[in-house]
Amino acid sequence: VRPLVLATDGRAVEILDQARLPHEVARVRLESLEQVANAIRTMQVRGAPLIGITAAHGLALALRADPTDAGLEHATATLAATRPTAVNLRWALDRMTAAVRPVPAAERAALAMAEAGRMAEEEVAACRAIGDAGLAVLRALAASRPGRPLDVLTHCNAGWLATLEYGTALAPVYRAREVGVDVHVWVDETRPRGQGWLTAWELGQAGVPHTVVADTAAGWLFREGLVDVVLVGADRVARNGDVCNKVGTSLVALAAREAGVPFYAAAPASSVDWAAADGSAIPIEQRDATELTCIRGRGADGRMVQLRVAPPEVAVMNPAFDVTPAALLAGIVTERGVARASAGGLRTLFPERFAP
Ligand code: MRU
Repeated sequence: VRPLVLATDGRAVEILDQARLPHEVARVRLESLEQVANAIRTMQVRGAPLIGITAAHGLALALRADPTDAGLEHATATLAATRPTAVNLRWALDRMTAAVRPVPAAERAALAMAEAGRMAEEEVAACRAIGDAGLAVLRALAASRPGRPLDVLTHCNAGWLATLEYGTALAPVYRAREVGVDVHVWVDETRPRGQGWLTAWELGQAGVPHTVVADTAAGWLFREGLVDVVLVGADRVARNGDVCNKVGTSLVALAAREAGVPFYAAAPASSVDWAAADGSAIPIEQRDATELTCIRGRGADGRMVQLRVAPPEVAVMNPAFDVTPAALLAGIVTERGVARASAGGLRTLFPERFAP
């Protein structure tokens, strides 16, 4: 089942509440613009491609209530303000606006829902194609290390929870499983929000061998020769191949370079900001300090608890993303194949985006 589906009555979407995973598998019905915006803001839905698809459906639901130009503008502004970094949000809202604006108000809601559904299916196809392109990379590496599983390290969650199916960074892993290439995944815990636990939950469901490690263990793993390749997702890729992803990604890339381990990002075209010349143009989300000062989990009695780990008065900064310079990447796995992480590399695969 996908982390977002259209409700059977067509009047809402149902999401898998990722704020409650991996402790509880709960579906939530979202009927209004405000509910969808809140779900994105509070990370009940998260991951760049899923944020985009959720926003597209949110806009369609908003147009049911108010299909006027003013309604359209209010809805796009509300959704655009939810999270700043994943460019898929803007991509989705721009595409939806271009589709609905030219038609009469009375026809907008139905058209918008159809367009959101098309975008969802296109993202699924893109993830599947990323899986095939990445599989070729994994196969080549596995052939050079016969007789043992291929060790992949990932950071954050870039699986089907963050997209709709397959994922981006995890798509090659799932495809490898499907075709019988032995893989084992090292899963970074990904403090402060712990998206690594979502990855572990996903991989567990699919029966993919995996081991969770503290984010700070990556350097040791590389030194011990325990990692063959790093695969991460992306929230926004700049035109020059700089990759913005969950905070901590750039440290993994630096350590991988030092150890000679290839580092790939996987992302669909919807995650590329063709207007961003380089990573310095990408806004980095600053999130609430409590994500750092407190930890949340299941208590011994089975109930969810929040514990403060910080002293009462402490200065905290919580940037949610960082930028990995293109030079540290072995490539960017896209739905059109593996691009060199550079403007030239992206131009080869997406020439239409560089047309004058
Ligand atoms: O803050 P999040 O959980 O939305 O961040 C998600 C990530 O950083 C993912 O790695 C990225 O979106 C790729 S999703 C396929």
